[in-house]
Parts: sequence; C-alpha cells; structure tokens
Amino acid sequence: MNIPQFIQLYQHNASAVAHELLQGLSAPQAFTSPKYLYDTLGSRLFEAITELPEYDLTRTEAQLMRLHSADMIRHVPTNACWIDLGAGNCEKAGRLLGPLKAERYVAVDISVDFVRQALGSLQHQHPGLAMVGLGTDFSGGLDLPDVLGLNPAQARVLFYPGSSIGNFTPDQALDFLQSLHRACGTAMGSGLLIGVDLVKDAAELEAAYDDALGVTAAFDLNLLLHINRLVGSDFALRDWRHLSRFNALESRVEMHLQARHAVTVQWPSGVRLFAAGETIHTENAYKWTVPNFEALLHSAGFTQTRVWTDRAQRFAVFWATA
Ligand code: AVI
Repeated sequence: MNIPQFIQLYQHNASAVAHELLQGLSAPQAFTSPKYLYDTLGSRLFEAITELPEYDLTRTEAQLMRLHSADMIRHVPTNACWIDLGAGNCEKAGRLLGPLKAERYVAVDISVDFVRQALGSLQHQHPGLAMVGLGTDFSGGLDLPDVLGLNPAQARVLFYPGSSIGNFTPDQALDFLQSLHRACGTAMGSGLLIGVDLVKDAAELEAAYDDALGVTAAFDLNLLLHINRLVGSDFALRDWRHLSRFNALESRVEMHLQARHAVTVQWPSGVRLFAAGETIHTENAYKWTVPNFEALLHSAGFTQTRVWTDRAQRFAVFWATA
C-alpha cells in the first residue's frame, strides 16, 4: 500500500495578514477577503451550511455528478493525475477517483492538516493510488511546485467543485482560471472539472445566504472573532447584524455585516468609527449563466467545454479541455 506524502508550502505571515485586513477595514466601504471566514469554527459552520434546506448548491452538485457519471467518464480522462483544489475532507473527489481510475491524487488546501485525516482513510480505499497533500494558498492563482514531481506526459484533471469560483470577481476569476489552464500542463486530454452555481430568483438566493436557523449569520459574524484574534481588535458580536442581498446588476449575492448602531472598533495601531447602518462587505458569491461561464472558460484558454445541468438550471458542472 502507498503512503500519502505531505508538502506544506504556505507559512502564515502574521504581519502581512494584519496589514491586509486593516487596509480593508479602513477603506471607505470596509471589506475583508472571504478567506478569513474559514477559521476552525468557520469551516465547521460552512459544513453545516451545506446541510441547510435553503442552501441546495452542494446537494444539487452531488446529484449532477451522480446522475451524469457515465457521461463524465466519456469526457474526463482515465488514469490521470487529479488535482483537487480546496480538498478539505476529500469527499467529492473521493467519489470519482475509483470510477475514473485516477493514478495520482493531489489534495490541495491551505494547510496539509486539513487533508491529513481524509487522505489516510482514502488511501485505505485506494491502496494503489499515489497521494500527496499539498498545503498552499492558491487564492491568488495555482502554481504547482516542482517538488510534486508531476509527470508531464500524464493527463491532469483539475477539480474545483462547490462554486468556489463564485467568490472571485469576474476579473479575478479570469486570472485564476488562466492559472488553472497553465497548471493543466501539456499532456493530451487534460482539463478542468468545475462546479458553478447559476443565477436564480433573488429571494431564493438571499435566503440561501441568510437561512432561518441563522447558521450563515453565525458563519459571517464569526469572522469578527477571527479578525479580533488576527489583528487584536475589539469587535463585539452584539453590535453587528448579518445581511445578504442580491445585487442583480453585478449578478452576485453580497454578504455584509451591518453596524446596529454607531460603533467604535479599536486595534493596537488604530481605530475606526462605523456609523449606524454602515457595513463591512465580507463576501461576494457571483452567480453565472451557462453561456457567460462558457465564454469565461474560453477566454482563459480552455478549448472545448461540456456542461451538465439540472432540469431547473440551478447549477452547472463543466468539463473544459485545456
Ligand atoms: C465556499 N463558497 C462557494 C460558499 C458560497 O456559496 O459562496 C461560501 C458561503 N458563504 C455563505 N454561504 C456559503
């Protein structure tokens, strides 16, 4: 049986993180990068979100992958090297590795600790599969290090499910997809398997990001506790409320934290006054149409695309050949 290998490249740089956060918090429209939503509790709350009745994105994607697996096998190369971006518990890729006869599996996440356990149990199910856990921050683009020793002649399947691409602005998404196109390498048949949430009714979208149980509100508010730890600020949860609104012009759901009344927030090197009703913009979730996303894939350099959607066109899975 093979043994998973682990490579940790990302090193937390406390002063760079504090600098980035404080710059955003001091901007006229305060904002923070969505990546700070995911501390340990935030990651658990996100897993809970995927179980909510209002948030059917994860379930619809899983159903599409199940329903169309036979057709996917006809398009996605077998015996390939799979590169799973934001792998976490490796569950989604884990269902496809066997049917698609993957030979190598690279689970990428910010920290190898997030994938360590999952790779251990996956290795028992696939003893012959070569597995690597790669800890890297790919939010600014994917760069595959030489230390991985990837075989340039082996086809690569880049796997990016869950509509995480929606958390990038269209310009950032284009840059990011271009980096994925480069990471596909030169072997014939390589490509990207990606899940994308589609535009739908505004009220439905807003409810998906502001559920009745308040799990998404907790997920958003928890960001303030994370920021307090990262920059030494004194945000108090009772001063803030969670908002989700669909911005039709930009085709995105926006999450904001809104000051319930005038609030002063302090940190070691400064202070900010928030007026009552002022917000911190914490996340965008862009919602695409099939033709617009197909056009984006082509602009990023992908040649042919195949798309699977559900009858109500709520979600799409694309296979894009490099
Ligand atoms: C991770 N990402 C695709 C989720 C989304 O739907 O944009 C994050 C999320 N934010 C609130 N609910 C879920």
